[in-house]
Amino acid sequence: MTTPTIELKPSSNPLSDAEREAILVKPGFGRYFTDHMVTIKWTEGRGWHDAQLVPYAPLSIDPANMTLHYGQEIFEGLKAYRQPDGSVATFRPEANAERFRSSARRLAMPELPVETFVAACDALVQQDAAWVPEHGGEESLYLRPFMIAAEVGLGVRPANEYLFLVIASPAGAYFPGGVKPVSIWLSEDRVRAVPGGMGDAKTGGNYAASLLAQAEAATKGCDQVAYLDAVEHKWVEELGGMNLYFVYGNRIVTPTLTGSLLAGITRDSLLTLAADLGHQPEESRVSIDQWRDDSANGTLTEVFACGTAAVITPVGTVKSAGGEWTQGDGTPGPVTLRLRERLLDIQRGIVEDTHGWMHPL
Ligand code: PLP
Ligand code: COI
Repeated sequence: MTTPTIELKPSSNPLSDAEREAILVKPGFGRYFTDHMVTIKWTEGRGWHDAQLVPYAPLSIDPANMTLHYGQEIFEGLKAYRQPDGSVATFRPEANAERFRSSARRLAMPELPVETFVAACDALVQQDAAWVPEHGGEESLYLRPFMIAAEVGLGVRPANEYLFLVIASPAGAYFPGGVKPVSIWLSEDRVRAVPGGMGDAKTGGNYAASLLAQAEAATKGCDQVAYLDAVEHKWVEELGGMNLYFVYGNRIVTPTLTGSLLAGITRDSLLTLAADLGHQPEESRVSIDQWRDDSANGTLTEVFACGTAAVITPVGTVKSAGGEWTQGDGTPGPVTLRLRERLLDIQRGIVEDTHGWMHPL
């Protein structure tokens, strides 16, 4: 399938430099959007067509649009970083494109070619390059590619029309506390995903499934929920929007991809970076008993969460119905901080990108 050419229809009324710069001083996460977006249509029998870069604007949606009723929706998250020479580069966009294809397959949606996904992200970042925050800090431009069904009707079946979009939002720290450790609620009853379900797809339904437990966590004074497997309620899977890593001195363990957790691109990158830094990365099952007991006996020295939005965030305290403990001394551990710095340095172009992860624009 050939990639449709993206037709440029730039905004005649972008935000002024002063307004944009005021936003970039403190962007928060997902609160402001750039001047443009990309839209590409897919129609049964015709494939991908009408690729456009247009002014950012609301969509007009029929009340009987299939996505509104049956949730056929997938999305991605990746970031563009300002490099030391003022240019811009994205981090592993092909990996996001591949995961988007895998999510599409799971939700019976059409698969967007990798090169079209990457070209759409590139076009938006190039057009709105002024929105990529300055080099040197932790800020970046977060890209949100997503796809919805565009067909109207209430029959339960895959739609025959879809709309792919990319929007962009300048991003500061995902958690207001920055690298401050987060507290975790261990959810022993509510699960996020089940074997054979959609846990390894990046689809809105998984996030909807996580919101009630997240609200319950907040009532326990916790920032995030750690989900367990849905069968034995014993094996640690991931957080609502991040994967987990367990640091046993030099051994660094992340839960095995069982099909009910998301294969994070940050998680995957850290398996490589940890080895680069002389650690022994490992994918293995971790039980809640192990998490609690190894924290108590001191062999589990650090725990951290990782993902595009949150980068690497240390875990400070863990609470469950059965009790609570502090991870290490409750402050960010040295391995967590070292991996975080190395990852950010690659993304910001400060150290050499030996794995070819950066995609310059
Ligand atoms: N797990 C979930 C449920 C997520 O939403 C995310 C965020 O994208 C991750 C893990 C981490 O994935 P990545 O590192 O690709 O951002
Ligand atoms: C990301 O890290 O890109 C995520 O999707 C996490 C969350 C914002 C949904």
